[in-house]
Amino acid sequence: MMLHIPGVLTPEQVESLRARMRDSEWIDGRASVGAQGAQVKRNRQLAEGSPAALELGQVVSAALMNHPLFFAAALPLRILPPYFNSYAGGEHYGPHVDGAVRANRGAAPVRSDVSCTVFLSDPDDYDGGELTVIDTYGTHEVKLPAGDAIVYPSTSIHEVQPVTRGERVASFLWVQSMVRDSWRRTMLYELDANIQELRAQHGDTPALVGLTGHYHNLLRQWAEM
Ligand code: NI
Repeated sequence: MMLHIPGVLTPEQVESLRARMRDSEWIDGRASVGAQGAQVKRNRQLAEGSPAALELGQVVSAALMNHPLFFAAALPLRILPPYFNSYAGGEHYGPHVDGAVRANRGAAPVRSDVSCTVFLSDPDDYDGGELTVIDTYGTHEVKLPAGDAIVYPSTSIHEVQPVTRGERVASFLWVQSMVRDSWRRTMLYELDANIQELRAQHGDTPALVGLTGHYHNLLRQWAEM
């Protein structure tokens, strides 16, 4: 399941992140990938663990964790500190799959179940730079307003198209989900979304309390911690 989450960051938050990023040091994006990624990755990123990356990453993680749609879709157990990347002058990231397990400075490693990109540039400010995700339902091109996020399974092959005008800045992170299987996560998300809609329409009827119980019992069956 790919899910567009609008308004994760406010325009003011985006502006303040962008201002802080302008003053930060950018390094070659190949610093954080394996052999396959290094052949196809051409961009720049804030150094992993640098004060700027950690400080800005906390803003992005907190905004996502507080967003009910993100929580319902990703069912996060652990989140890696977000990365920040920049593409300009034809930079791109060719087709690749993200590594399954990511080291997490001093903490438990994180299995990448869910990938999330938070767009930080206005789409009118650059050409190209679409995130292309290939899954069993086909190829999806994503280019969202600044402050919006896309969530997709880390198992998919994906790429960032060359940025031919302007600059594309984004934040990117991996989540280890309580529910490893993406189909189970999708089913839980859809059940949850329908329960929320019924609750808004009818209030907590006995049948809705029963369905809510069913949701939690499924999560209890499937959650790993
Ligand atoms: Ni990737």
